[in-house]
Amino acid sequence: MRHLIDFGDLTREEWESLYARTSEIIDAPEQFINACRGRVSCNLFYEPSTRTNFSFQTAMMRLGGSVFGFADPNSSSVSKGESIKDTVKMVSNYADVVVMRTPWEGSAKAASLYSNVPVVNAGDGGHMHPTQTMADLTTITRLRGGVDGLCVGLCGDLKNGRTVHSLIKALAKFNGIKFFLISPRELAVPDYMRVFMREHQMWFTEVTGLEAVIPQLDVLYMTRIQKERFVDPLEYERNKGIYVLTRRKLERARPDMLVMHPLPRVDEITVDVDDDPRAVYFQQARYGMFARMALLEHLALQPRDEHPAPVEIGTRPICRNPRCITQTEHYLPPLVKKIGGVDCCGFCDAALE
Ligand code: NCD
Repeated sequence: MRHLIDFGDLTREEWESLYARTSEIIDAPEQFINACRGRVSCNLFYEPSTRTNFSFQTAMMRLGGSVFGFADPNSSSVSKGESIKDTVKMVSNYADVVVMRTPWEGSAKAASLYSNVPVVNAGDGGHMHPTQTMADLTTITRLRGGVDGLCVGLCGDLKNGRTVHSLIKALAKFNGIKFFLISPRELAVPDYMRVFMREHQMWFTEVTGLEAVIPQLDVLYMTRIQKERFVDPLEYERNKGIYVLTRRKLERARPDMLVMHPLPRVDEITVDVDDDPRAVYFQQARYGMFARMALLEHLALQPRDEHPAPVEIGTRPICRNPRCITQTEHYLPPLVKKIGGVDCCGFCDAALE
């Protein structure tokens, strides 16, 4: 693995080896304090973040490496109109690994084409968030002993929730997973995810009610309604507060069900749920830091690629998704990939018409 852009690009074996390393780190973190000594990570955060940015920073610090970057693009040349290509070319002169979060779908993929060092997608708009998935899988595996055969409820904004998309892609690598996709119709998973699940013959059902399915679940993954992704504020108003997990609703759940959440929480889990032993979301964030340590160790020690392959220069976007990175960065090549036999954008996965 050279970059981590989409969890779907990892094989199950690659994940298992990362997980094995994560477990070693969790069990004996003191043995890793010099694992990335002298290595430098650049964190480019074009979008607000608390957990992910802090978690990547502390992960690198605990490996003995250092971190630079920005958490506010207005303090960098991005505000002068610098392209993703130029920014990543520049920072890959200084860093051994680049971690980036942006509001544009496909942006980490775009950066990876030009970077001399590995790129990690720390969230590209409403598209993907593979390192959150590392946190999620680590949590499930540590606390449930394994992932195969689980019945997983994904609840909330499944349209804009990038953590959900990455988790579904990851769970396709396991056997016997059943999904209950719980969302209002207007916030259901994007078409490319539905096509992906069918292509991988995954069992899933889409429902609007949480309470009816709760007793069947091994994992309930709650998500925030992603306010910042709504073009129409009325659509947000209609959907906010639509699912709230309370202590009373939890009474009907299995005694060993895990309640997970990528955080931040708004109002979708009441505070009194936090003391229930099934609520593992704060622990999940801690596992995320260890999983990122395993990832950074793997990537930051790789040799620099002095001469990345030349990339075709595009002239106009072929993708019509208004949030796709190709809409603003016109030099990007016209990448196409097949999802379930359909031609899709190689950056954001949207179907090309
Ligand atoms: C998530 C994100 O940014 O996508 N948070 C995180 O990384 N832990 C979820 C969210 O913002 O709702």
